[in-house]
Amino acid sequence: MQKLDRTYITVGMIWLIAGMIFGAWLGGSGHMNFANSHAHINLLGFVVSTLFGLLYWAFPAMARSKVAMWQFLVYEIGILMLIIGKIMIDNDGKETIFLQLGSVVTIVGTAMMLYLFVTKSGSEARA
Ligand code: HEM
Repeated sequence: MQKLDRTYITVGMIWLIAGMIFGAWLGGSGHMNFANSHAHINLLGFVVSTLFGLLYWAFPAMARSKVAMWQFLVYEIGILMLIIGKIMIDNDGKETIFLQLGSVVTIVGTAMMLYLFVTKSGSEARA
């Protein structure tokens, strides 16, 4: 899919704004028990989404694959579930299906990225 690079980076920046607001809230209000959730919003949400977007930009053949849109959806749904689960655990310490399922879906989305990179990135790259 074309323009997936920009979509990914836009979503990454939305995660960044959300993570920053969350960090400002937890720091300002003294809710340090949520620091781990904040870190995952910024790192899985902003850093990894932006990195994936840059990879789709650098290797356009990856974005043209039919797998690409599914990779984006699986990864973003996975981290959304994982982050909801992290927030729930930071809140009350109880295990949650969100974290368990979100972890697996996130790993699957990342494995799809690995597959795309290994099979498609060799044919064409931006200088
Ligand atoms: C407006 C921007 C941000 C604010 C206000 C903010 C605020 C905070 C606060 C208050 C803490 C807890 C510190 C403590 O436990 O003593 C924290 C931890 C952390 N932040 Fe941020 N942060 C911001 C941006 C970011 C970004 C952009 C990243 C990564 C890309 C990041 C990654 C982390 C990490 C890894 C931790 C440690 C988490 C842990 O100890 O479990 N933060 N941040």
